[in-house]
Amino acid sequence: MSDIESLEKRRPQAKANLFFAVLNTMTDGVMVVDDRLRVVVTNRALRELLILPPSSEGQPLARVLPDSRLREAFQKALDGDPARNIELDHRGLQRRTFDVLVTPLPDHEVWGHRALAVFRDVTERRALEQVLRDFIANASHELRTPVTAILGYAETLIDLPPKDLKSLKKFTEPLYRHAQRLTTLVNRLLDLSRLDAHTWQLDLQPVEVGPLVQTVLEGLREVAADAGLSVTVQVPTTLPKVLADAGALDIVLGNLVQNAIKYTPPGGGRIEVRARQVEAQGPYPASLAIAVIDSGIGINAEDQARVFERFYRVDPGRSRRMGGVGLGLSLVRELVLAMGGRIELSSQIGQGSRFTVLLPMAK
Ligand SMILES: Nc1ncnc2c1ncn2[C@@H]1O[C@H](COP(=O)(O)OP(=O)(O)OP(=O)(O)O)[C@@H](O)[C@H]1O
Ligand SMILES: [Mg+2]
Repeated sequence: MSDIESLEKRRPQAKANLFFAVLNTMTDGVMVVDDRLRVVVTNRALRELLILPPSSEGQPLARVLPDSRLREAFQKALDGDPARNIELDHRGLQRRTFDVLVTPLPDHEVWGHRALAVFRDVTERRALEQVLRDFIANASHELRTPVTAILGYAETLIDLPPKDLKSLKKFTEPLYRHAQRLTTLVNRLLDLSRLDAHTWQLDLQPVEVGPLVQTVLEGLREVAADAGLSVTVQVPTTLPKVLADAGALDIVLGNLVQNAIKYTPPGGGRIEVRARQVEAQGPYPASLAIAVIDSGIGINAEDQARVFERFYRVDPGRSRRMGGVGLGLSLVRELVLAMGGRIELSSQIGQGSRFTVLLPMAK
């Protein structure tokens, strides 16, 4: 037999091998059922996604994957309906969500009447959509509070007798406070959306930490003094420069110091800003560590893991009374990450908190 002849003979087998190689390399799961709703083909991705044994081929669909909507979709496809998508929740080792496209296969003289389902894992996408929905719900809820308050106070002011100056003062002060809260919220949301959309071009330059810390504190010393808190700074003048966007670092430190002030009970509390050089360790390059330390209410271990989430507040009532919207730390964390750094938190209830920002040193 010539080479050509032997190739011709081997060709159907080679074609089938290629077909199975393709099927098993796909990341989507594939399942084929026959006209009696028995599973006749599964690919590797499907068996891994649904944790099915290889022996599931040849078994009734009802035993392999008992789901009435999938069975119904297959039945419709076998009856000649066009392709359709269904969403399937599956509990294997973890709960996963699949977008399943069920479609009839062309009839064939050997294998007859069959239908195909392609399973796409959409668990992560659905989780992201949920985060977005929660975000919008939270943002709307937070916006409603000051807007309702402003409307209420404005209406009261309209109805006020023109000479009642005492009441005027009583209503303008909260009006101003709520308008301020609204501004904070809108600015925070805009900052976060600029970060999300990557339209915030961070300009990383060598920055001297000492003067920057002083500038941040200038605006906050009075607030701290009013709350009876002392603020000290320990930044060695010999400290090398940090590689950062000065504006972003200003926001980061401003937020951390504001929090330190807000969450330290008035009178006798101490707030400290310290900076030092940190040698390279493991995957981390040599950096500068800037720590904001307070002797305030502290954060318990469970909440420490969550305070960087958008809108998360340990005590929403307290935060709101202080004009907080629960977005400061999420912005801080995202800015620090965008500058190639990281943030660490250690805290103890009743003792105080220490937020440490680590940023790469300028070369
Ligand atoms: N230094 C701190 N000490 C104790 N708790 C803190 C401290 N900093 C933050 N927290 C807790 O973490 C929560 C989230 O902080 P974050 O700065 O994101 O929001 P916020 O201060 O409530 O509002 P804002 O968006 O105005 O900053 C706070 O509500 C508070 O419960
Ligand atoms: Mg804050």
